[in-house]
Amino acid sequence: MLRNIRLRRGAAAALAAVALLVLAACSGDAYPNSTFLPTTENNRDVTALWNQMMFWGTAVFVVVEAILLFTIIKYRRRPGGPEPRHVHGNTVMEITWTLAPALILVFIAVPTVRTIFRTQRPAPATALQVEVIGHQWWWEFRYPEFGVTTANELYLPHGRPVNFALRTADVLHSFWIPALAGKRDLISNRTNYLWFTPDSTGEAAFNGSCNEYCGSSHANMKFRVFTVAPANFELWARHQAADAMFPPPAPAVVATPTARPVSNPTAGRGATTAVVPVLAPVAVPATTPWQFPREKIPPHVMPHTPMPPGMDIPEAVIAGGDAQRGFTTYSRSACIGCHKIRGNRSSMGILGPDLTHVGSRYTIAGGLFVNDALHLTHWIKNARMMKPGTLMQTLGKGMRDPIMNMTVQAGGLTDAEISDIAAYLLSLK
Ligand code: CUA
Repeated sequence: MLRNIRLRRGAAAALAAVALLVLAACSGDAYPNSTFLPTTENNRDVTALWNQMMFWGTAVFVVVEAILLFTIIKYRRRPGGPEPRHVHGNTVMEITWTLAPALILVFIAVPTVRTIFRTQRPAPATALQVEVIGHQWWWEFRYPEFGVTTANELYLPHGRPVNFALRTADVLHSFWIPALAGKRDLISNRTNYLWFTPDSTGEAAFNGSCNEYCGSSHANMKFRVFTVAPANFELWARHQAADAMFPPPAPAVVATPTARPVSNPTAGRGATTAVVPVLAPVAVPATTPWQFPREKIPPHVMPHTPMPPGMDIPEAVIAGGDAQRGFTTYSRSACIGCHKIRGNRSSMGILGPDLTHVGSRYTIAGGLFVNDALHLTHWIKNARMMKPGTLMQTLGKGMRDPIMNMTVQAGGLTDAEISDIAAYLLSLK
């Protein structure tokens, strides 16, 4: 009797736990990166397929378990019972248990193949083309229609299909925005495609990541996706396509395409006196900057990576960063060998992320850190302490480079110079 009561209580507790789990799994808020959010036709197709599989899988499970339990209980050994009859094969049963799974496979195969064909067909001709290039360990995004190249942050307009052409600059990566669509691999010497139409109506922000092991910072290869109203997308794209002017333009600037050397305001702050000519920025007509509203980015889409120990630029030095001095220091630093800033004709590198309008991004370092003066200065000082294996060199004077295993001396940047450069970069909205 007591045993029965205990059993019943145990069963009730187990049922309650299962019900809680099931209910928790239904909550979109609890799992904002879930693949089961209906935000594109692609993930609606995949979710519908998944639901069918779950239905048939559950049906098979229930039937098989019911037969199994029935058999176990009905034909269990009883004290004093007769020896079971020995049988050698049963043709009807064998045909049945061969045909039944075949039939079930047909039920699974038809919707699967249909979904594969639907999601694999070429994108509509009107689709927004976005080239995705995977790098160890960051994402390059190009919008050929607008002449925009950016890094780690994707802007997509509502209601227009977007066609991603996926390539890699080095090893295998995999492109996945769980709440929108994916994942699809980036394979050497090949272009893969993925397309979908973001159809959420409000401004929304999503997480994306690399999902193919690609080296020591594979887990640090993230990106963000902002789906926005078409008019805002247009504003964003037009502004990103314009050169990043420094100092920021007054309204209605006339283009002056001639280069001229400017004076060197950093002389006396440890800079060499031999003046390397710094080309003045090209003036272009001003555009309206537009950035996804910060207050609409949920906490799970902002980075929370803590600063590694040993990063020590004093707050006052960071706060004292001067964008004008930073422009000059940047324009003759090692930075320009790897980074491009359209609008700064000294900065033509292509190895690292394009930094035109870097100040309009919310994240740096492959989406690993918040893009603010604190993180940007330390990143410039010693990126390799903040992200294992990164190609971004250690630039802080006196810092130990963990990859080269040497201390940066000549050519290294002081904390003040780094703070100036960060101020310049953050001004490039
Ligand atoms: Cu790129 Cu993992």
